[in-house]
Amino acid sequence: AASAQLAGGSAPQAAASAAPASSLTILYGSQTGNARHVAEQLANAAKAKQWAVKVLDMADYKANQLKQERFLTIVTSTYGEGEPPENAEAFYKFLFSKKAPKLNGLKYAVLGLGDTSYEFFCKTAQDFDERLAELGGVSLQQRQDLDVDYEAQAESWNQQLIKALEPELNAASEPAGAQVIAWPGQTASATSTFSKQNPFHAELYANQKITGRDSTKDVRHIEISLEGSDIRYQPGDALGVYFLNDPAIVREILLGAAIASNTPVQLAEHKLTVEEALLEHLELTQSYPAFVEKYAAATRNDALQALAVDKAALRAYLADRQIIDIIRDHPGLLTAQQLVDALRKQQPRLYSIASSQAEVEEEVHLTVAVVRYDAYGQPHLGGASGFLAERLAEGERIKVFVEHNDNFRLPANDDTPVIMVGPGTGIAPFRAFLQEREQRDASGDNWLFFGNPHFTQDFIYQVELQRYLKQGLLSKLDVAFSRDQAEKVYVQDKLRKQGAELFAWLERGAHLYICGDGNRMAKDVHQALLDIIQQHGQRSAEQAETYLDELKQAKRYQKDVY
Ligand code: 2AM
Repeated sequence: AASAQLAGGSAPQAAASAAPASSLTILYGSQTGNARHVAEQLANAAKAKQWAVKVLDMADYKANQLKQERFLTIVTSTYGEGEPPENAEAFYKFLFSKKAPKLNGLKYAVLGLGDTSYEFFCKTAQDFDERLAELGGVSLQQRQDLDVDYEAQAESWNQQLIKALEPELNAASEPAGAQVIAWPGQTASATSTFSKQNPFHAELYANQKITGRDSTKDVRHIEISLEGSDIRYQPGDALGVYFLNDPAIVREILLGAAIASNTPVQLAEHKLTVEEALLEHLELTQSYPAFVEKYAAATRNDALQALAVDKAALRAYLADRQIIDIIRDHPGLLTAQQLVDALRKQQPRLYSIASSQAEVEEEVHLTVAVVRYDAYGQPHLGGASGFLAERLAEGERIKVFVEHNDNFRLPANDDTPVIMVGPGTGIAPFRAFLQEREQRDASGDNWLFFGNPHFTQDFIYQVELQRYLKQGLLSKLDVAFSRDQAEKVYVQDKLRKQGAELFAWLERGAHLYICGDGNRMAKDVHQALLDIIQQHGQRSAEQAETYLDELKQAKRYQKDVY
């Protein structure tokens, strides 16, 4: 009976009395995979205790199971302005709706992952925590809200939780071996051993600028070799990329603080030189509040310490400043170890993969917008994008790994039509989708909406797309060049224009995908979709919401936004 209960959404009600008390459910809300990894670590620790455990993507969780849960853990990140990550949206909505059940028998714990640079740091975790308590749940362990450098703390939070669960689950647990542990929603497709912790040193094959000479943007088509790695990825996955910081910036920092480049420092359990640490292991391009606090204290800078206290002013100050800008504003002396301790560990950057292995085999392609701007009298370059575009020569190596994303997948059925909305670099995963569908000879219709500032400068992948259109792989291609006319034209305007047909595609089962800017574009496109469904589906505003919610639930409406 225990195994039936754990075997997924179709568990019979009758089994509820048999065993559910002994099982731990772990749900993750994850945008970039970090919360998923922490949830899986927790599940592994619970599994080692012989407990029955299921770990689930929140998008795959049947909310009507909630009232049967006895032990629930939520690991979630927060997105944008305090919103739940994409895969957590539906469950979040349910929990805050009138449909949410009383949870008097529930014991729960919540772990938040976030970034202290954001105003609404770990807001979603906080919301879940408060709401579960409000519904009658009892906290097993205090919530923790962790910053970007979360790994060590997440591990100890997990261990503590396992301890807290021991008296509950050991007693309830059946003898070892008697249980079947189900792992729904797993992404164990990788045969390769490479991961975020153990990236592959991959060779850069190509770096081509694909925007025009007069473009406002510098977008690169990047090709990387995975030869010899056994790394497999699917269209919709992302590539994690580590990078080296700019040696000129590292030199400037060390000179300014009068630190010799070969000074030894300690970084976690490793001993290395301060120069190595700054070049390879620490975050220098994105600035963050913790650096200001620690740097101000180490250099005894009163003005900077005062700034660090005023959170709103600090956020404004940090907005487009990199670490070097703060140091230029406030030069000071500190030891090599103090400097290293003030900086946080470099996080790899994730890029949506722009190729299909069915076509490119042991390569992986990316579409990278180079972050480049002038500020405070100096040129600035983004970390990973600057490294890829300017400092990594073809033939040199870069550390990469694949981050799987099961929430952005082509339909299983090749006959299903797909609608893809991908302005700017948002086109990347759709290039992968189209390659895949061409190789598979998929008969489903493909419709792409693309947008960028200017036709002559910014129509990236134009030749390929027009070939696909000519061959019929692309059934329809709609482009919005926002600045080619007096009034702005965006992808959502093109969607509205095609509203009737778009609705007809949805009615005949099309899957709908959005990739690109999540702050404005994805929201505006979402609104356009609601309007289209209202107008062409003769539905009320509320019914249109439900229509899209149901699409989402059926995994027919998927977003990869950043
Ligand atoms: P703009 O820069 O001319 O305003 C890719 O970045 C394209 O997305 C550009 O053409 C950009 O137009 C456009 N864009 C900017 N804001 C947008 C929004 N809210 N919705 C859709 N497209 C947008």
